[in-house]
Amino acid sequence: MSEQPSKLIVNTTSFVKISLSFSSAWIFLFILFFFLSCSNQKDKMKTECQFEEKYEKKIDSIIGILTLEEKVQILHGIGIFESAGIERLGIPGLKYTDGPTGVREETQQHSFSSLGLTTDSVTFFPTGTALAATWNPELALKQGEGLGMETRSRGKDILLGPGVNIIRTPVCGRTFEYFTEDPFLNSQIAVGYIRGVQSQDAGSCIKHYIANNQEFERGRVSVEMSERTFREIYLPAFRAAVENAGVMGAMGAYNKFRGEYLCHNAYLNQEILKDDLGFKGIVISDWGATHSTMKAALGGLDIEMGTRGRDYDSNYMALPLRDSVLVGKVPEEVIDDKVRRILRVIYNLEKLNNDRKQGSRNTVEISNIVYSVAAEAIVLLKNENKILPLNKKTIKSIAVIGQNATQPQSFGGFTASVKAKYEVSPLEGLKSKLGDSQIIEYAAGYEPKFKSIEGLRMPVPDNTPNEALIAEAVEKAKQNETVILFVGTNRTIESEAWDRLDIMLPFGQDELIKAVTEANPNTIVVVVAGAPCDLNIAKEKAPALLYSWYNGSEAGNAIADVLFGDVNPSGKLPFTIPVKLNDIAAHAMDAYPGKDLVVEYKEGILVGYRWFDTKDIDPLYCFGYGISYSDFEYTNLKANKKSYNENDDIELDLMVSNTSNLDGKEVVQCYIRALDSKVSRADKELKAFAKPEIPANESKNIQLKIKAKDLSYYDEEKSKWVLEPGNYEVLIGSSSRDIRLKKTISIK
Ligand code: BGC
Repeated sequence: MSEQPSKLIVNTTSFVKISLSFSSAWIFLFILFFFLSCSNQKDKMKTECQFEEKYEKKIDSIIGILTLEEKVQILHGIGIFESAGIERLGIPGLKYTDGPTGVREETQQHSFSSLGLTTDSVTFFPTGTALAATWNPELALKQGEGLGMETRSRGKDILLGPGVNIIRTPVCGRTFEYFTEDPFLNSQIAVGYIRGVQSQDAGSCIKHYIANNQEFERGRVSVEMSERTFREIYLPAFRAAVENAGVMGAMGAYNKFRGEYLCHNAYLNQEILKDDLGFKGIVISDWGATHSTMKAALGGLDIEMGTRGRDYDSNYMALPLRDSVLVGKVPEEVIDDKVRRILRVIYNLEKLNNDRKQGSRNTVEISNIVYSVAAEAIVLLKNENKILPLNKKTIKSIAVIGQNATQPQSFGGFTASVKAKYEVSPLEGLKSKLGDSQIIEYAAGYEPKFKSIEGLRMPVPDNTPNEALIAEAVEKAKQNETVILFVGTNRTIESEAWDRLDIMLPFGQDELIKAVTEANPNTIVVVVAGAPCDLNIAKEKAPALLYSWYNGSEAGNAIADVLFGDVNPSGKLPFTIPVKLNDIAAHAMDAYPGKDLVVEYKEGILVGYRWFDTKDIDPLYCFGYGISYSDFEYTNLKANKKSYNENDDIELDLMVSNTSNLDGKEVVQCYIRALDSKVSRADKELKAFAKPEIPANESKNIQLKIKAKDLSYYDEEKSKWVLEPGNYEVLIGSSSRDIRLKKTISIK
């Protein structure tokens, strides 16, 4: 392969000598150089995110000398987070670790129980929705790099993340781990994250493939959705991870899809992922999500993990699999394909190279990454009379109220739990910002109490207001100039393994908000949560409202900097916050949590804002919403053409002006509306965005590019993507409901 380009150079150069004048030869050489440097660049990008060809022959030769026993030995766990290599040949196995938001603490070899070390703490990274709220794929790349470094420094090979399941309902317990309700934003963040992790010689394992959109009955429920919905909404991030990031692993989810367990699902694992998308990595089962030898073997699963018990030889993909091959039920080529994939990952992780990156953890560099993500993730929802930012020099006294001002958010939520080396709480962040803790008074305001309900295997928040704590908070609110009130959920409420029963602010927090805002109208409410909450009362009563997420080790510093204006907020909601839960499509259609262990995604493609906009339902805060301390004006939208062919790029150009005296960042969002479609389409779909930094009182030209093909819908009858001719409206805005510029283009 490497010989061809140089031949081309020789031939073209001699052609130049003969037929062109001297000066035009220089121009030609310049263009040629430019072309070659671009294609080198492309090659470089390719090798950064694709499996390398150079190992393939070697892998084939290894497979040729392995015994069947040796082959099946590497197809299943030999510890809770470990699978075997080939000892005879000195090929090491794989070590895995959770999870999406930090490297999990060391467990015992054969169980999830902690080893109780004092040397395994790590950085807590902002969780999924926080990262997505940055709308900044560059930061996702940085976060991935940080995670990759920590993965390697703990001697692990594969990080079990990112989690990219679409946020179909806010009550899903794992919403905080996932990114968004929109497939395009999902893909952009996922690709950045994966590239970052894999740049550190660690592998990323995207999860949970596919349609793990609720925790309720996740081990038994079967998801039914149309093919179009699957292709347009739930698959894109997985597809982007394969095609644009060369992801090394994909984890099969616990649930079933169209009646078949994901880890046995030949259609999804073999046909779609491996054959159609060209995935060359490994499909790993979720822990304990394999249920049959034959089905798993023939259903595209490559590694079985987490099956209970130490007797790994009796795992479905261990000796029972060997026996199935011996009696001719499973062809040996099927096993060889799995082995090839595993060896490919082992080699591409540079596991046999002495100069493999060893990573580092808890470094200043990583803290800086975490701070940058946290600062850009915070979403300002309301800022009446520009009450924010607060002024450090003039502020006299602050009451910090709410137990979430002190509650660590790194620990909890099962497998996404992180043993953080440090976590700056909001109260600590504010104290260190003000340097003088004398002016801050704290009151808890509520108590995070839980109750159990018969028949429910989950802790349920006790929402009875604690009158004594409210009275104390009211007192402090009256005595201080400003109140910063921290409400929201925590990592017991939002967790793997269960869904929330509702989206209420828990523990009587609405009563607290009412009492405190009544006592002191100068109250800023900060929501600490991973998923959407009911913010009706908060929005009505408080002059300022922010979302600050489970925002990682630097959460407290980031929120303090936003509140005092050292950071100009630039986060945007990655999901819709509804007025009420029943406005969400899955709930409105009575399509959650399913009946008789089947959940039918009746809303189809109308997930998130696609539903709200198409059905004309007002959200409390719409997808893509978030304000800044600056104001931005949008002008001068131009498109490179009026009419496009299938292979064209739609190139858009516009001007965004920062009309304030503060530097700021703005997420410029581009939605497309199909005007002449013959099939039902969502009112609008996000197709591009950019996040420029615009200095105070300056303007910037912004370019956005969309492939015309990306305006297609998936035609179930033809089983392919179809680009309909006709008119389309380009909608440019600051959120999905704040469209500032429009232009009609057409597809020929
Ligand atoms: C979770 C996965 C996790 C795995 C290993 C499962 O319970 O669903 O996301 O990676 O455990 O801890």
